[in-house]
Amino acid sequence: MKILGIETSCDETGVAIYDEQQGLIANQLYSQIALHADYGGVVPELASRDHIRKTLPLIQQALQQANLTAQDIDGIAYTAGPGLVGALLVGTTIARSLAYAWNIPAIGVHHMEGHLLAPMLELPENRPQFPFVALLVSGGHTQLVQVEGVGRYQLLGESIDDAAGEAFDKTAKLLGLDYPGGAALSRLAGKSTAGRFLFPKPMTDRPGLDFSFSGLKTAAANTINQLIKQQGELSEQDKADIAHAFQISVVDTLAIKCKRALTQTGYNRLVIAGGVSANQQLRQGLQQLMQQLKGQVFYPAPQFCTDNGAMIAYVGFLRLKNGEQSDLAIEVKPRWSM
Ligand code: KG4
Ligand code: ZN
Repeated sequence: MKILGIETSCDETGVAIYDEQQGLIANQLYSQIALHADYGGVVPELASRDHIRKTLPLIQQALQQANLTAQDIDGIAYTAGPGLVGALLVGTTIARSLAYAWNIPAIGVHHMEGHLLAPMLELPENRPQFPFVALLVSGGHTQLVQVEGVGRYQLLGESIDDAAGEAFDKTAKLLGLDYPGGAALSRLAGKSTAGRFLFPKPMTDRPGLDFSFSGLKTAAANTINQLIKQQGELSEQDKADIAHAFQISVVDTLAIKCKRALTQTGYNRLVIAGGVSANQQLRQGLQQLMQQLKGQVFYPAPQFCTDNGAMIAYVGFLRLKNGEQSDLAIEVKPRWSM
């Protein structure tokens, strides 16, 4: 069984082919980051238009990469939500139309289920076994999920305001970094001598597994305003020290909540996925935590942490194999709880 996966929920056009026997046999990605950079964030209309331009050429490239023709594809998976409505409609319409023309089944996939199962694209020895706790940290979501098996997910906690990636991006913007600034903020933090500023660890002083990150952006903004008042402008060192304080707070907060979720579930495996799981500080922090707890931590390869077609192809494969499929109506769910 060979499944074509199409991801167009935000600002990345991802196309991949997952083969039941060989695993991932093609993976193509086009990032729109440069297109949106001047606007300081994703412009939905521009995103849709660019997905329209890029999706079919990427499908052709994926088929070429795997040395296949359209006749070799047994099913199509597409991201049906959550995400930007126009962007989702592009991938969904193309996927459904190709499936109709090729007379094969198609299935709409939940974007966060893609992130959640992305570690399954690794070699067998590096894949987590069920059950596990998943920490999903992306630009749009921060969630702790109890994962008993494929399709058996229970939300344990989530952000009540900004997602972790969103907080990274907003704070990065305050520090004058281009959108999306998460990775750049993290590089900047590496230049800090550390310990100069201490930001709060939101909602860790009370029970529960929900998050709140908007206050951290405010803490950064207040520190920046104070320094500007005192010195007129920020030095590079100031910026690095603020980035460092911000990152430490996010990482510590996430680690504290992961520990709680593991205690609550009694599980000893932790998966981190989504764009922010590329963050090295976070990986180190959670690695340390799992050493303490004598458990294991798993994450996707860096190219599968951020949005990609491979994770959608994989989830689509599992669901189509299980006999599920979506009907011909072209439907997307911009808001969709997993
Ligand atoms: O999963 P993703 O590609 O897209 C969404 O579904 O949202 O996540 C993108 C987010 C952005 O906020 C980006 O700044 C953040 O992931 N990100 C990082 C790093 N790499 C990407 N945040 C912190 N450190 C990084 N190294
Ligand atoms: Zn994502």
